[in-house]
Amino acid sequence: MSAQRYIIEGGHRLEGKIGIHGAKNSILPIMAATVLTGDRCVLKNCPRLSDARAAIEILRYLGCEAQQRGDVTTVDSSKMSRCDILDSLMREMRSSIVFLGAMIARCGSACLSSPGGCELGPRPIDIHIAALRKMNVSIIERGGFLFCEAPKGIKGADIALSFPSVGATENILLAGCTAWGETTITNAAREPEIVDLAEFLNRCGARISGAGESVIRIDGVPELHGCEYRVIPDRIETVTYMAAAAVTGGHLELTGAEPGHLAAVLPIFEEAGCDVKVRGGVIELSADERLKSMHLIRTTPYPGFPTDAQAPVMAAAAVARGTTVFVETIFENRYRHAAELARLGADIKTESRVAIVEGVERLEGAPVRCTDLRGGAAITVAALSAWGISEVSGIHHIERGYESFEKNLAGIGARIEKL
Ligand code: UD1
Repeated sequence: MSAQRYIIEGGHRLEGKIGIHGAKNSILPIMAATVLTGDRCVLKNCPRLSDARAAIEILRYLGCEAQQRGDVTTVDSSKMSRCDILDSLMREMRSSIVFLGAMIARCGSACLSSPGGCELGPRPIDIHIAALRKMNVSIIERGGFLFCEAPKGIKGADIALSFPSVGATENILLAGCTAWGETTITNAAREPEIVDLAEFLNRCGARISGAGESVIRIDGVPELHGCEYRVIPDRIETVTYMAAAAVTGGHLELTGAEPGHLAAVLPIFEEAGCDVKVRGGVIELSADERLKSMHLIRTTPYPGFPTDAQAPVMAAAAVARGTTVFVETIFENRYRHAAELARLGADIKTESRVAIVEGVERLEGAPVRCTDLRGGAAITVAALSAWGISEVSGIHHIERGYESFEKNLAGIGARIEKL
């Protein structure tokens, strides 16, 4: 953890071009998936993030060779020698639970500490565990650790998820690829990152069909092999920069994006009065007038409005004319950024899963603190529109998920400096 912070002089219009990086939420499960291959995998378009570095640390601990040069990550898992993850590495990145399915599939057993609570509230893994148990994996939870074993191999199963959990769907995909027989996931998560993981696995020789739909079928194969793969663009990074341009009345061109993954989000910016144009992988946003309220935003599983976009879009709602109501249906504790936005002068009331944002004419600079990854991005976006100077601390949260965040913003005219 670092004491680094951003000093931002807000109120400057942003204008220019930003290239979107690869998706954080794709690269983490795909890095876990490389251990299934026992071979060399080359992953392109990888963002340089602290979470990606944490995944590399885990792979090295497991005995794999792993490194990132520029935006290319290479993993050779042929010499993998362990099937446990140190508690300190698990704590570094809670989403490392996605290594579970991959490790059991590769080694027949796995031991890791349970991820416990995190900044978004309790993050249970009951759906992951129930699914893996159906696949013939014995799991004992003791002393904060999960001891998992499948001495007779993982068996395909029909699994109906009680909620379309992204992480659980990923763990089942990872466990099912080389399992005996067929696995069916009903009520599977449909996020683009699930499709990306399935495409990577299929490129390695897996037989997965239906990814991106509610029912996924996996035909177990005896083994996988390495491949070269390019990960999809980060849809949440895209939304965050759109929000930054919107709150400053700016004009922004985002290249290397995937507008098709933002079908539930682009209309929200149009509702706010922005002009949004799409040409292939380019999204252009202009905000010429004060933003308008976005009325009601309800986060739901894909293809609905993503929970990860809720905080950055709230920063835009904070300065829009009128009232915007947010209903967060995915995570319990995802409004911690609201109190920090209020320090900048935002008028936000939260009650359980609802936040009511009365847009104010202008925010004013203040010392603020990042509460979590997306909340931190939202606070920075709001500070860019606030008059005067803001000091944003706790930016290690932002560096988990945004490559060169302040450099990208400075490149389009933001007065932002990292101290
Ligand atoms: C992933 C994303 C995260 C995103 C989230 C929802 C990664 C690395 N992270 O997180 O950025 O916000 O999807 O789109 O890809 N749940 C249970 N039991 C379980 C599993 C989940 O109750 O066994 C609950 C969670 O507490 C949460 C909800 O289901 O309230 C969604 O979780 P899930 O879809 O699993 O999200 P993650 O995979 O953790």
